[in-house]
Amino acid sequence: MTVPLISPSILSADFARLGEEVRAIDAAGADWIHVDVMDGHFVPNITIGPGVVKALRPHTTKPFDVHLMISPVDSFLEAFAQAGADIITVHPEAGPHVHRTVQAIKALGKKAGVSLNPATPAKMLDYLIDDVDLVLVMSVNPGFGGQSFISSQLRKIEAIRRMIDKSGRQIHLEVDGGVDLSTAASCVSAGADVLVAGTATFRGGPAHYAANIAALKGTG
Ligand code: DX5
Ligand code: ZN
Repeated sequence: MTVPLISPSILSADFARLGEEVRAIDAAGADWIHVDVMDGHFVPNITIGPGVVKALRPHTTKPFDVHLMISPVDSFLEAFAQAGADIITVHPEAGPHVHRTVQAIKALGKKAGVSLNPATPAKMLDYLIDDVDLVLVMSVNPGFGGQSFISSQLRKIEAIRRMIDKSGRQIHLEVDGGVDLSTAASCVSAGADVLVAGTATFRGGPAHYAANIAALKGTG
C-alpha cells in the first residue's frame, strides 16, 4: 500500500511554543506542515493569520500546507504567499469565484488546492480538476480539531481518486479531519496520498511525535 505523506495540523500544537512545535514535528518525520486558517465567519473559530505563518517560516524547510477557511479569500492570498505558504487550499463554498481564486494562487507561484466540505459533492471538481495541484477532502465539518471522522467521505475519496487518475495529472489527494490510527489506512485504501493529522500527531507530547507519525504512515 502507498505510504502517505503526513501533514500535521498545528492547530493541535501548543500555541505558546509554536516555533518549537514545528521544529519538533519536522524532526519527527512530518512531510508537510498543515496550517489551519480560520476567520470566525466562514467557520466558527479564529486561529492563525499570515503574521504567524511568516514567523514560523524560519523554523522548517518543509512545505507549508496552508488551509484557508476564510471568506472572502482572494484579498488574503498574496499575504499568505509572501508569508511563505507553498500550497494554498481554498473552499469553493467560501466563494465567490473559485476558478478565479485557483488561477490567482497559481499566478503567485504557489500550488493551488481545493477543499470540499463533507456535504459538497466530488462533482464540484468537474471544471477545476485540470487546474488544481491538490484536492482536500474534509472528513469533518471545518472549524475544530478533535472531531470524529465522517465515514461517508471514503466514497468521495474513491470518486476523486478516479477523477485524478483519469486526468493523468499529478494531483495530491489529501484527507483532513478525524484521521487517526483507526481511519488512516481506510483513507489510503480509498486513494488518499496525504493525511492531515492534528490530534493524532500531537497526542502525548513531543516524545511521542515520531512514533505517532510513523504509526499514521503505517510504518511504525
Ligand atoms: C478542521 C481542520 C483540521 C483539523 C484536524 O477544520 O481543517 O485540519 O485541525 O484536526 P484533527 O486531526 O484533530 O481532526
Ligand atoms: Zn485543515
